[in-house]
Amino acid sequence: MHLVILKTFQDVSHWAASYVMKRINDFHPTTDNPFVLGLPTGSTPLGMYQQLIKFHQEGLLSFKHVVTFNMDEYVNLPKLHAQSYHHFMWTNFFKHIDINPENVNILNGLSKDLNKECEKYEEKIKEYGGVELFIGGIGEHGHMAFNEAGSSLTSRTREKKLAHNTIQANSRFFDNIEDVPKSALTVGVGTIMDAKEVMLLITGAKKAYALYKTVEEGVSHMWTASALQLHPKGLIVVDEDATMELKVKTVKYFEGLDEHIEF
Ligand code: GLP
Repeated sequence: MHLVILKTFQDVSHWAASYVMKRINDFHPTTDNPFVLGLPTGSTPLGMYQQLIKFHQEGLLSFKHVVTFNMDEYVNLPKLHAQSYHHFMWTNFFKHIDINPENVNILNGLSKDLNKECEKYEEKIKEYGGVELFIGGIGEHGHMAFNEAGSSLTSRTREKKLAHNTIQANSRFFDNIEDVPKSALTVGVGTIMDAKEVMLLITGAKKAYALYKTVEEGVSHMWTASALQLHPKGLIVVDEDATMELKVKTVKYFEGLDEHIEF
């Protein structure tokens, strides 16, 4: 696992977007061999999305041959609902870039057969030969996508009941806490771990304890992001605020490694 420590949220956003651009451009994707990108929602990746849109507008990056798979979606929330992840992705990213709508994959939380929907999602990822780069954020309690504490570290895409603290955290986007869906469809920890590369963005003091659990403690299903320790190509990009619970020697160690790409 590699930890890239940058000063601010803006620096993390710019670094992550530059990294995604480099990975896509170096891949030279085509219709027959598209770049498969896993994407998150949340406030953390917003800055990265804005920067990717800028790169696209400047003519530096095209998404024509990029296929995306989103991490998760609420169950029973209409796609047009302001807080659905469909709405989030189209408003904040997809409508501003040249992606082919057919190449966008987001779980359908309104499906009559949720198990089937999840199975189909896994199959489709496989048909594309797997995800090249899965980008994620984490919750304050260390969950990736909606893989709440106690999720199996080999879990696949499925419906997951949301933990009370997740419902509480996400209620800031809804009028009332009662309006927050109680469950979601989510890719599993195993689904994320199968990607050729995983990049997590972690920013702000609120995530400091979760970052400490992810990086300095052992692999645990109670902090599902810690599974990244077992990934051969795991990358975590953080700002200084998020490092507050890390040991000084951990921070110095990773800052001392200059193998990461400078932008
Ligand atoms: C939700 C999402 C996660 C996201 C997390 C943190 O739980 N399912 O994918 O990482 O929120 O969101 P934020 O970046 O807004 O803190």
